[in-house]
Amino acid sequence: KMLKNLVVFITGGASGLGKATADYLLSNGARVVVFDINAPGDNNLSPKNDNPIGEVFSPHVTNSNCLFFKGNVLSTNDVETAINKAKERWGGLNVALNCAGVSISCRLYNPNNDHPLDLHEIQKVLNTNVVGNFNVIRLAAQAMAENKNEHGENGVIINTSSIAAYHGSGTQTVYSAASGAIVSMTLPIARDLASCGVRVATIAPGFFKTPLTHSNNITDEVKQFITTPNAFPNRFGDPCEFAHLVTTVIENKMINGETIRLDAGSRYEI
Ligand SMILES: NC(=O)c1ccc[n+]([C@@H]2O[C@H](COP(=O)([O-])OP(=O)(O)OC[C@H]3O[C@@H](n4cnc5c(N)ncnc54)[C@H](O)[C@@H]3O)[C@@H](O)[C@H]2O)c1
Repeated sequence: KMLKNLVVFITGGASGLGKATADYLLSNGARVVVFDINAPGDNNLSPKNDNPIGEVFSPHVTNSNCLFFKGNVLSTNDVETAINKAKERWGGLNVALNCAGVSISCRLYNPNNDHPLDLHEIQKVLNTNVVGNFNVIRLAAQAMAENKNEHGENGVIINTSSIAAYHGSGTQTVYSAASGAIVSMTLPIARDLASCGVRVATIAPGFFKTPLTHSNNITDEVKQFITTPNAFPNRFGDPCEFAHLVTTVIENKMINGETIRLDAGSRYEI
């Protein structure tokens, strides 16, 4: 089985899509470093500087194939330390999955209360989702290039964008721009890392059932509205379905430089 013993680095792995993928890969024999600014179960998205960076605990305490690292994708030191730990323990890095991300839903300028969106809110989303992605990719690529695997296949990098990259609503301008940047970086990075034997692909999910889309401040009405543009099936995606596509991208060596929509045919017309 191809997944067995692969070493996989998952950012945002403490929650939602990243956590579901960590669970799926672990149950298929992979070794996983869960890298997240928050511990599993902690849904507060703001960084906590008082907590030490590094190996804290494994969310799968009985599973010696899983390490948890508390760290920020925007920190070179955090990402390098976590990747080095994986290399020390398991001898190399094969896959990096970028699921860390934040989202805001807000108008750029709201004439009703004469309020332009705070600049730091814009910077937070672009920094985490775009700069953070670049940071992980450059350091993961460096580690993968050391692999010298048979057939020159040294690693796979998988990013998470969103269908907002293609048709975001009027309250998703910043998130859409960040998602679009991830789509746009995919092919050039695949070309850039080709000589290292590293493939790159991006998944653009529609709406999946995670804490991001199922927090308490989202009403049932809104949840129902969100999946209306789906062709079929008319429901939120299950994070396991995301994990399934991640494994397909890992296993199918012809997937490279492309963004794959995973959205039940959802197309917004508004
Ligand atoms: N759930 C969906 O419907 C959906 C749809 C399209 C795209 N996405 C994207 O997929 C990704 C994962 O979404 P999710 O639903 O699992 O969200 P989530 O909020 O459940 O998980 C995101 C994780 O990223 C972590 N994180 C945030 N900032 C970080 C940082 N600076 N460093 C390290 N970790 C950080 C958070 O702590 C959290 O655990 C996000 O980028 C999101 O925008 C989600």
